[in-house]
Amino acid sequence: MCGIAGYIGYRDAYPIVIKGLQRLEYRGYDSAGILLFDKDVSISKTKGKVSDLEAIMINGIFKKGSIGFGHTRWATHGVPNNVNSHPHVSNSGELVIIHNGIIENYDAIKKELIKRGYTFQSDTDTEVLVNLIEEVKKTHDCKLGKAVQIALNQVIGAYAIAVFDKAKPDEIIVAKLGSPIAIGIGKENKEFFVASDASPFIEYTKDAIYLEDEEMAIIRKNKEIKIRKIKDDSLITPQVQELKMNLEQIEKGGYDHFMLKEIHEQPNAITDTYRGRLIADQGIIRLSGVDNNLEKFTNANRIIIVACGTSWHAGLVAEYLFEDFARIPVEVEYASEFRYRNPILTEKDIVIAISQSGETADTLAAIKLAKEKGAFVYGVCNVVGSSIARESDAGSYTHAGPEIGVASTKAFTTQITVLSLMALRLANVKGTMSSSKYHMYLQELELIPQKIASLLKIDDHIKEIAKTYLLSNNCLYLGRGFNFPVALEGALKLKEISYIHAEGYPAAEMKHGPIALIDDRMPVFVIAINKGHYEKVVSNIQEIKSRKGKIIAVVTEGDTQVKEIADHVIEIPETEEAFTPLLTTIPLQLLSYHIAVMRNCNVDQPRNLAKSVTVE
Ligand code: M6R
Repeated sequence: MCGIAGYIGYRDAYPIVIKGLQRLEYRGYDSAGILLFDKDVSISKTKGKVSDLEAIMINGIFKKGSIGFGHTRWATHGVPNNVNSHPHVSNSGELVIIHNGIIENYDAIKKELIKRGYTFQSDTDTEVLVNLIEEVKKTHDCKLGKAVQIALNQVIGAYAIAVFDKAKPDEIIVAKLGSPIAIGIGKENKEFFVASDASPFIEYTKDAIYLEDEEMAIIRKNKEIKIRKIKDDSLITPQVQELKMNLEQIEKGGYDHFMLKEIHEQPNAITDTYRGRLIADQGIIRLSGVDNNLEKFTNANRIIIVACGTSWHAGLVAEYLFEDFARIPVEVEYASEFRYRNPILTEKDIVIAISQSGETADTLAAIKLAKEKGAFVYGVCNVVGSSIARESDAGSYTHAGPEIGVASTKAFTTQITVLSLMALRLANVKGTMSSSKYHMYLQELELIPQKIASLLKIDDHIKEIAKTYLLSNNCLYLGRGFNFPVALEGALKLKEISYIHAEGYPAAEMKHGPIALIDDRMPVFVIAINKGHYEKVVSNIQEIKSRKGKIIAVVTEGDTQVKEIADHVIEIPETEEAFTPLLTTIPLQLLSYHIAVMRNCNVDQPRNLAKSVTVE
């Protein structure tokens, strides 16, 4: 969590840093702050969003300087207020820091520093770190880079930091462990950009270096960048990568919100996911990560999927896909639980980590544990070059393009697309699916984008339904089989952006408890497609109806039975049951979106959340 953006070069740093922070607000928006240097240091910071920071910087004097860095915070240690906002300054006023991550042993360090006469203004772990660096600098009588290195060897936790020394105003030191840092390289080293991801500098340069864990960089104007290992000081040769992202992809493109744009991008995003991988008319699926490790997959005892949130829901869909298509036993685990419960793993286990951001701390820790225990780790990530992608033994990117809205939408459907391709490829290799079925599934998968496109056209109908339920306090979501995870995902979407309490359940579990909640004020969203357990779901709908619950049913085009009972129906095009989650989830995303907008909620940046959860 938290976003950092910095600049050192010949341009005005202020607009670059501010715009960069706006693009990184998906990482947290509890407070924002900026340091600029122009003859002297100026620091401005405030509780609230980057727009609040801009509002307090009305005096242009403080906007000057061609070196600067800023921070957008997701609070961990210390409530969101002005004092706890970054940047933080050392006791002497000489050193300034911004930090994304958590220093776990900050309390012990703080006590030691207090004994040595240090005082603290904030409740943050970051202020402790900058003073530790100052103390090291003093006691070792060394330069900033060395002091940062020594200090970081004393801390436990995670960090992406940028540090500035008033005495050396042509230099920024950055370092990373656990939290990401990308460095943009300008022409002839005349300027450098620093950020939590590459979006803040995409219009200035396509050349970027992603720091690895336990690396630090010394960045100076007009000088070659120097990267060192924090542990042993050894020099690293920088690996410059060419960025593929473009500016359009990270802007709203005429939509009111990123979430709406991303919902509408799904037909193209899914096409991009299977482009070059699915050649339906020839019966070919190419996934290099799987193809290069076919033996591992075909001999696997089981697949364990680790993920969080929406990605975990995609993992649940994958459980049905892998077991049904490829007959491989699957377990789906919350990464946060898996990492702490001493799981039994062998070399014949495959751990699939699913993560949009590729930076989720629990998922990253889970795969590190899996690797230690000898399992083969496969990453399904969206963000190219992200920590989980790099830590995995092999993997497939979802190629959904940047997802900025905190609520995951296209990440979910593209994850399911990759997982469907994997399951089909393995089914074909293992011979667990007849050739005719395999070909039929490939053809059907190829048609999904156009079916989503047609479904998106009924947005007005969904908006009307949203109006009816926008004042609800509670909602239930029910589904069975492949659509049970969609019920969970529908409920998560509603609660996270509209703050309405919502629960997802397998429809048959109703009678084991939740049915007690049903009355005439309880909207129940039921996925009742004409496949799998249709008749049983219809019975569940009857049970709800006879207790006066309101039914909003997602049905297959042409349905007549549910239409007679439900208060509202939303039709989805016909497809194979295994691919229905790719369609049934779309109206639920739109419903949540419209309800949240009508309730005046901040759809793209819901309260207390962040897009990339890089802390436990
Ligand atoms: O980046 P990841 O996919 O690892 O993120 C996992 C969750 O934090 C994420 O899916 C979260 O639940 C979303 N806000 C859901 O919309």
